[in-house]
Amino acid sequence: MKSILDLDVADKRVLVRVDFNVPMDDDRNITDDIRIRTALPTLQHVVDKGGKLIICSHMGRPKGERVEKFSLGPVAKYLSNLMDRKVTLAPDCVGEQVEVMVAAMQSGDVVLLENLRFNKAETVNDPVFSENLAKLADVYINDAFAVSHRAHASVVGVAERVAEKGMGFLLQTEMEYFHKSMDNPVRPLVALVGGAKVSSKIGALENMLDKVDRMVIGGAMANTFLKSMGVDVGSSKVENDLLDVASKFIEAAERKGVKLYLPVDFVVADSFSADAVTKNVTFRDIPENWMALDIGPATSILFAEALADAMTIVWNGPMGAFEMDPFAGGTMAMCRVVAASQALTITGGGDSNAAVKKSGESRFISYMSTGGGAFLHLMEGKTLPGVDVLN
Ligand code: 3PG
Repeated sequence: MKSILDLDVADKRVLVRVDFNVPMDDDRNITDDIRIRTALPTLQHVVDKGGKLIICSHMGRPKGERVEKFSLGPVAKYLSNLMDRKVTLAPDCVGEQVEVMVAAMQSGDVVLLENLRFNKAETVNDPVFSENLAKLADVYINDAFAVSHRAHASVVGVAERVAEKGMGFLLQTEMEYFHKSMDNPVRPLVALVGGAKVSSKIGALENMLDKVDRMVIGGAMANTFLKSMGVDVGSSKVENDLLDVASKFIEAAERKGVKLYLPVDFVVADSFSADAVTKNVTFRDIPENWMALDIGPATSILFAEALADAMTIVWNGPMGAFEMDPFAGGTMAMCRVVAASQALTITGGGDSNAAVKKSGESRFISYMSTGGGAFLHLMEGKTLPGVDVLN
């Protein structure tokens, strides 16, 4: 597989697929620019080497409609400031007008194509749409790790149609950290997994059972595991249809010799609200009509012990409803533990990264992946179509 460094981009039209699906506030100010900043080395390289830089991305899920709040306009301005050069926003991502614009580009010019998903054809990997995008490019670079699990036109269809193609620096770094942590880890390897639903992570949990030395499970998903063991979790969020799956998972962990850690105490609340009445209870004492919204202090200590001698830690998903301060304690404690660890530490997923950011510990994490779904996809043991196609 080629890297951007193996490709001659001078004077070429270089189409770079990035993931600029960034969060914005109501006034369309970008509230987290990590996906833009981490793509900069690739974008800057193309410009520095004299390429004609054509950037494409999706934003949100406009379902084939032109929805103004999903325009990449604010990103064009933001990027222009970061790169300190003009970034022209194209009116669309394909079509005659775009072709004329691209034909007029000089070395070092930068055009950002408008949101790919304003066209229905993007998400269904439509061949004609792929062809229309591909004809804008002499060279194709994928630097969009976070969307590389989607077999969409700009990720797969275009790559199939452009002979000169390769990985950008961000995609390369993401894959390297993934391999270091999951395929070839320094042991002990410990997975710390949280978040709301067992259903969205069971594939990853099952796959990781064959790889990790220990597995630590917090967040609302722990309730389903505890309930499957006969614990009364009050009115906590539970996926009742997955109790059987959860109990089989616990058996499998035992069979495979993977030590599984579940919460032993909780912060419970009388409602799902920042103003709720709260108290700390053990897992045996969750009152009826109360819900567990964070792991308790004894669990934080237990989990810290499970992570103490780890040499590799992979973390996905928060320990509780950390966006509300009364329920942030457990997740913040894990941020401090992971940050202080000697291990290679990798976090992935929007929530875990937002939590690490909130804790102020980001700089002590070895690598914060820009992927959510793509990160989980790899944890499930699957390959990424956007990477496979570059081979
Ligand atoms: C993400 O935010 O996870 C990526 O940009 C992919 O977005 P999608 O889930 O809408 O495909």
